[in-house]
Amino acid sequence: MKSTVFLLGFLLLSVGAFAQQAFKIASPNARVNLTVNVSKEGKLTYALNLAQTSVVKPSALGFKLQKPAISLTNFTLISADSSEFSETWNPVWGEVKSIENHYKQLKLRVKAIPANVLVDVVFRVFNDGIGFRYEFPEQEGFKHFIVADELTQFNLATNNKTFWIPGDYDTNEYLYNTTLFSEIHALAAAKKEKDIALQSLIADNAVQTPLMMKTPQGIYLNIHEAALVNYPVMHLMANTKTFGLTSHLTPDAVGNKAYLQTPFNTPWRTIVLSNKAEEILASKLILNLNEPSKIEKTDWIKPQKFIGMWWEMHVGKATWEKAGGKHGANTENVKKYIDFASDNGFDGVLVEGWNEGWEDWFGNWKEEVFDFVTPYSDYDVDALLVYAKKKNVKLIMHHETSGSVTNYERRMDKAFQFMKNKGFETAKTGYVGRIIPRGEHHDSQWMVNHFNRVAAKAAEYQIMIEAHESSRPTGLHRTYPNWLANEAARGNEFNNAPTLGLVPEHETILPFTRLMGGPMDYTPGFFKMHLNQFIPSRTTRVRTTLAKQLALYVTMYSPLQMVGDLPENLKVYPDALQFIKDVPVDWDDTKILSAEPGEFIMIARKQKGQNQWFVGAVSDENSRELLVNFDFLPSGKTYTATIYQDASNADWEKNPEAYQIQKVSVDSQTKRTIKIAKGGGFAISIK
Ligand code: NOJ
Ligand code: CA
Repeated sequence: MKSTVFLLGFLLLSVGAFAQQAFKIASPNARVNLTVNVSKEGKLTYALNLAQTSVVKPSALGFKLQKPAISLTNFTLISADSSEFSETWNPVWGEVKSIENHYKQLKLRVKAIPANVLVDVVFRVFNDGIGFRYEFPEQEGFKHFIVADELTQFNLATNNKTFWIPGDYDTNEYLYNTTLFSEIHALAAAKKEKDIALQSLIADNAVQTPLMMKTPQGIYLNIHEAALVNYPVMHLMANTKTFGLTSHLTPDAVGNKAYLQTPFNTPWRTIVLSNKAEEILASKLILNLNEPSKIEKTDWIKPQKFIGMWWEMHVGKATWEKAGGKHGANTENVKKYIDFASDNGFDGVLVEGWNEGWEDWFGNWKEEVFDFVTPYSDYDVDALLVYAKKKNVKLIMHHETSGSVTNYERRMDKAFQFMKNKGFETAKTGYVGRIIPRGEHHDSQWMVNHFNRVAAKAAEYQIMIEAHESSRPTGLHRTYPNWLANEAARGNEFNNAPTLGLVPEHETILPFTRLMGGPMDYTPGFFKMHLNQFIPSRTTRVRTTLAKQLALYVTMYSPLQMVGDLPENLKVYPDALQFIKDVPVDWDDTKILSAEPGEFIMIARKQKGQNQWFVGAVSDENSRELLVNFDFLPSGKTYTATIYQDASNADWEKNPEAYQIQKVSVDSQTKRTIKIAKGGGFAISIK
């Protein structure tokens, strides 16, 4: 690891109470230009340009506090200093082997008047965007404080094309809306959604982050946050007339936003920007703004591919609950999954519905549901662990909390100890429904602290975590690399939702939005597209081609990838299954070949420690041809590429399961056009 800090010297400008002070700071490559201003009247603002083009106009910074009841909106400048930092670090797992973290920093110490509260506002300017945060240093007369709201603005320079989901304190499981910024209507969009278990809408102009936009000049920008610790999730309120956004923090049960004590640093507010869509997907800015791993010894942390005793319940073949006679998680059935995982080289088998409590788990807002240690009587956990071990497969634990988080907090140690004793290494957690403590939201400060506590606690037991219905990630997997993935968006399982389901463009938007903060357990790998296999009256269906399901293993980066469908459906197409068997879940290198949000994405990745490459490409509802330039391959070597593509008559709607496979020789000079069907995609393994 190389690490350098250059101090550019103290930049204290004219600190007269009435003078205006302006600071300009450019990214290392001078493309991203930030201006920070403390006006004569005491307003603290920043503005952002990409080269000469204004992207964010002067936007105010500040806070409203509930206790003490003061505003931090007028400031005098105390001091300013700037520095440059550069390091290269290696993630425990990831899309690339090493990550460059190079930025210029401006730190302003300001004093809020008339309250006399000191705040350090820190800006970091990278080649692909900026991050800034508020730091409340230790100081006399100001220690404990309660935030009424954060008043950070993002005043957009233009009426951008915007990819948004409605602001909601409890869920991110929405379809994306693509409109001009001026056309955002969150409540109307949210009302169309009938299949989301719990909605807590904010306002017609509230949207969630990561918020992806494209300016009329073709600049791509993404607003999100990094390192969300001890603070609520930030939503954004849009002013559709002025193209302004203002932060809106998630309230707690009594309406406050955050309970803080100095010294305290807020999460970073991030704006990733580039005139190339590919560079947004390649950005590591959010990871770079997170703290290095708190876990020193990380050799027990393993990326993994797994199947689940799971989709059976979603499509009505079995039930989570034992009562009713269709219990999926019985010993014999789980053995079949272990056999299938073992036969295909998958690392794990997730078993849902294994523990007592599912008869009455959802909807009653009750405190005591699961104890996380008591298996159903037809589930012989010890025998299955022995069986799985023999077959070189790991069982993955499921901790559905049903939103009763107090209950989970009380039982977490016992639950992780139970896992440790038995040899479980990974837990999928879940937070379906209304939260207990009652009145808290999935996105409130208390819950953010809970999710982070789970990651830290699990690490003590050397357990890996993936969380469903958590708040959306902000790059904390750098700090807790045992936190492999989250759901926190509308996943592939929503294909089975009765009303809207999914749309083919969804997977061309997610990498630009939800995935900016971290990996998702999207659960790709559905081969049976009509979901009426067990309940003939069901009209739900997967809205992709089969080849696109393969491509998702490359385009939807995660160190934890499920093979979603039932073994009996996967077995129908053994030659397509071969791609899922081959595709790795950890990478040395990633090249975003071409992408446009809402339209298509094509990515090449090099397998960790192997000279093998994989390409994935996905399209929206349109068919298209994409030119694959194999110049990412090292020159002078010939490889065999196996191309899994849509058959010429494939179509997500009319003929989704039709695909073809061909083997061709490729080298770094090869260029090849590949056709994608409507709602389709292709996947290539290159050996
Ligand atoms: C919702 C999760 O997203 C899904 O994967 C899980 O099967 C159910 N909750 C039950 O826990
Ligand atoms: Ca879910």
